[in-house]
Amino acid sequence: MQNQTELCKSDIPRMLEIANIVQEGKSQKSFFFKHSIGCKPGQFVMIWIPGIDEKPMAVSYWNKKEFAFTSQAVGKFTNALDKLKKGDKLGIRGPYGNSFSIKNDACIVAGGVGLSSLSTLIDALKNPLLIYGARSREHLIYLKRYKNKNIVISTDDGSFGRKGFTTDILAEFLGNQKNKVEIVYTCGPEIMMKKVFEICQRQGVKLEASLERMMKCGFGVCGACMVNDKIACIDGPIFNSRQLAKMLDFGSFARLKSGRKVSLNEYHSAH
Ligand SMILES: Cc1cc2nc3c(=O)[nH]c(=O)nc-3n(C[C@H](O)[C@H](O)[C@H](O)COP(=O)(O)OP(=O)(O)OC[C@H]3O[C@@H](n4cnc5c(N)ncnc54)[C@H](O)[C@@H]3O)c2cc1C
Ligand code: FES
Repeated sequence: MQNQTELCKSDIPRMLEIANIVQEGKSQKSFFFKHSIGCKPGQFVMIWIPGIDEKPMAVSYWNKKEFAFTSQAVGKFTNALDKLKKGDKLGIRGPYGNSFSIKNDACIVAGGVGLSSLSTLIDALKNPLLIYGARSREHLIYLKRYKNKNIVISTDDGSFGRKGFTTDILAEFLGNQKNKVEIVYTCGPEIMMKKVFEICQRQGVKLEASLERMMKCGFGVCGACMVNDKIACIDGPIFNSRQLAKMLDFGSFARLKSGRKVSLNEYHSAH
C-alpha cells in the first residue's frame, strides 16, 4: 500500500460547485467537480452538506482536471445529496486515507456501491478480472463505464448476469490452477469481504480490502473509526491480508456514532 498523498490536499472544506450529475443506477448518482485534487486509487473525500452532516465518499472518477464521487441514496445524508442539482455547492475536504497498491494479474471483487471505491484502481490497472455483484439489477452501477472490461456480473436474485454470489465466482476462479492471480482487491458489504478474505487465505492469494466505518474527522483525531488497534481513516481504509487476519472486528463488529462497539447487524440497523 502506498502512503497518503499530500498533493493539493485541504483539511478545510472548500465549497465547490457541482459541475455535472450522472445517474448511475436507480438510486445511485455521481457528482462531478471541475477541480483538481491529488488523489490515489482508493482514497476518499469528506463531503459536507451544511446543516445536514458530513460523510466520507470514495473518489470514483479522477483526472487532473476533475473528480467525482458516487452516492447511493440510503439514509438522511445520501437522500439529501440525491436532491441536489447541477450548480449547487458542497463542502469538500481531502483526499484522505491510504491507497491500493498497483499490481498486475489482479482480480477485483466488488459488491453494490462498493465498486465506487475500486473504480479509480480499475482505471489504473492493466486488464484486471472484475467480479461484480449486487442484490438485483437496480443496485448495479457503471454498467456502461465497464462494458469493455473483463467483467463477470452476478445478482442474488438472477435479475442480471449470473444468479448467485460474487464469492462463488471468486472461489471457482481461484480454484482453477490455470488462472494466474497475484492479488485480489475488494470493497462491498463486510460479510462479502470476510468471505473473500477466507477464500484468499485458503488459496494463498494476497488481498487488499477497503473497509467502511463511521467517520467524523477523517484524519485520525476523533477515534470514531477505530477497528481494533487501527484507525480506519489514516491506517486505512485499505487493509491487507496480514492486517485483516489480526482484526477481530473485521466481519463482526463496528462502532456507532456514540463510540459503542456493536455487532455489524446492529451497526447497520442503528443508523
Ligand atoms: C471510506 C468510506 C468511503 C465511502 N464511500 C462511499 C461511496 O463511495 N458511496 C456511498 O454511497 N457511500 C460511501 N460510504 C458510506 C457513506 O459515508 C454513508 O455512510 C452512507 O452512504 C450512508 O449515509 P446516510 O446518512 O445516507 O445513511 P444512514 O442513515 O447512515 O443509513 C441508512 C440505512 O442505510 C444503510 N446503509 C448505510 N450505508 C450503506 C451502504 N453503503 N449501502 C447500503 N446500505 C447502507 C444503513 O445500514 C441504514 O439501514 C463510504 C464510507 C466510508 C467510511
Ligand atoms: S474519523 Fe476521526 S479518527 Fe478516523
